[in-house]
Formats: sequence, C-alpha cells, structure tokens
Amino acid sequence: MASSTLPLGLVLVSSLVGYFVIASAGNLYQNFDVTWGDGRAKILNNGDLLTLSLDKASGSGFQSKNEYLFGKIDMQLKLVPGNSAGTVTAYYLSSKGAEWDEIDFEFLGNLSGDPYILHTNVFSQGKGNREQQFYLWFDPTADFHTYSILWNPQRIVFSVDGTPIREFKNLESIGVPYPKSQPMRIYSSLWNADDWATRGGLVKTDWTQAPFTASYRNFNAKACVWSSGANSCASNTPSSTSADNAWLSEELDSTGQERLRWVQKNYMIYNYCTDVKRFPQGLPPECNAA
Ligand SMILES: *[C@@H]1O[C@H](CO)[C@@H](O)[C@H](O)[C@H]1NC(C)=O
Repeated sequence: MASSTLPLGLVLVSSLVGYFVIASAGNLYQNFDVTWGDGRAKILNNGDLLTLSLDKASGSGFQSKNEYLFGKIDMQLKLVPGNSAGTVTAYYLSSKGAEWDEIDFEFLGNLSGDPYILHTNVFSQGKGNREQQFYLWFDPTADFHTYSILWNPQRIVFSVDGTPIREFKNLESIGVPYPKSQPMRIYSSLWNADDWATRGGLVKTDWTQAPFTASYRNFNAKACVWSSGANSCASNTPSSTSADNAWLSEELDSTGQERLRWVQKNYMIYNYCTDVKRFPQGLPPECNAA
C-alpha cells in the first residue's frame, strides 16, 4: 500500500522544516529501559554506560523509551572480547506488527583472534531477505566504535565510525516497499545463537568464559520522536540549531560514496544482491537499480 502512505510521508517532512525540540544530552537512563535479563543489563556511571551480559541461564536486552519516525542515530559499542563464539549482539530499529519495518546491525562473535561478522538487514512491511555481511577493519572488542543509522525519507545508510558501509535507497518508484510510515524503537540484546552464528553453528559457545559482556555509550540521536500519533524533531545534542535537521535530506557525498565502495570491495563477505542461486526467479528489484 505504498501509494496510500506516501502523502503521510510528504506531510510529515514538510511539517518538520524549522521545527525542532532541544532535549538533553544522550543520557542512557533518560533514553532507554532495560527490558529483560533479570539484572544482567545495567546502566552505570550516572547513565554514561550500559552493559549487557549473557551467561548460560540468560542473555539481556534494552530498548529505547521513544519511538522514532526517521532519525540519525549513533551509538558506541564495545563488543564481547576474547572467545565470543556463539554470541550475538543485536542492535537495531524495529516497528511492531505483522508488517513491521526493521533496520539491523548484528554482531556475530568468534573465537579469540578470529573476525566478528557484522550482519546487516533491512525489512520493509514484514519482508527482509536483504542481508549484507562485513568484516571490520579493526578489532571491535578492543575499544568503543560508533555504529550509526541514518534513516530519512530517501535512504537508509549504515555507518561505522563515520564510514558508510551500506545504503538502502527509497525505490518505491520501482515498487520496493520503503520504511517510512511506521515508527520504530531502538532495541539491543546479547544472546546465545550457537546453533548458527559462528561458522554456521560449528563453533559452540564456551560457557566457561561466561559471563559475556558488551558495552554501550555516547548515544546521540537527531530524530523525529513519535508520540501518540504526532511527531516532533528532537535533537539531544546539547546545543542544536535548525541546521541539525539537515540529516532529514542527507545523502552520501562523493567522499562517502568512495568510502562505501572501499568497504564493499574490501570487507563485504556476503551480499544478497549477488546471490543468484538464492533468487532463481531473479534478484530483488533494488539490486538491479544502480
Ligand atoms: C570466524 O572466523 C572464521 C575463520 O577466520 C571465519 O571464516 C568466519 O567468517 C568468522 N566469523 C564468524 C562469525 O563465523
């Protein structure tokens, strides 16, 4: 029903111009709720740090208090170090319902010294099957790195430390549903997926290494916050100006495009758009649109 939701998107964008709310800095207490894990998820240091942990009995998770309809959302993550095989740290945006939209980062752990896989996917109206996977050009367990999602009416860009790794464009013009009318929350969880995560499930979680811990800090969002059917554009950077709404029409400049090609050439290990065996009826339409 893309055509029926298009007017909403247009109204939304035009009503946002020049309209913004300044919120406080990205305190994790103010922006997130621990949702599960029975004490395994903790917000520490007055809201500057959040940790998730996983042991044999349970993983843990949190979600944003707000729902967002478009945003530019940064979070720094430091992933489970050492032997993290079998663990998955998921960090994503998702709406609700049977025809949900979702924008995913998932970090698949590995044996000490072997590379994590950064798995990405985009669901629109309940349909995903758009996986791209990457190795990273650094050890994501040694320090915090910034993982960002730019989601505006024209495109979704996944970035790592400011380097774009994936772009999903709004191609409704050729019949590809695009997430643009269902508000999404931010979710994250650390859980055991040793039936599939590491080398396709061959390497199991070593529970003698538990608890496994992943850490989060420096949440920073410029976003349109959805609340009881209305939205406002909020920025939680301390001093914001209307220039902060530039993300709503942001696109990759030539440097960004070059960086994206560099990552895709050197670090991409799976792309659904080249998996012709998986799509015997033909690749999804967005794969053939340049
Ligand atoms: C783990 O390491 C192996 C060997 O280097 C590699 O093939 C695999 O892609 C790595 N990542 C995961 C999550 O399995």
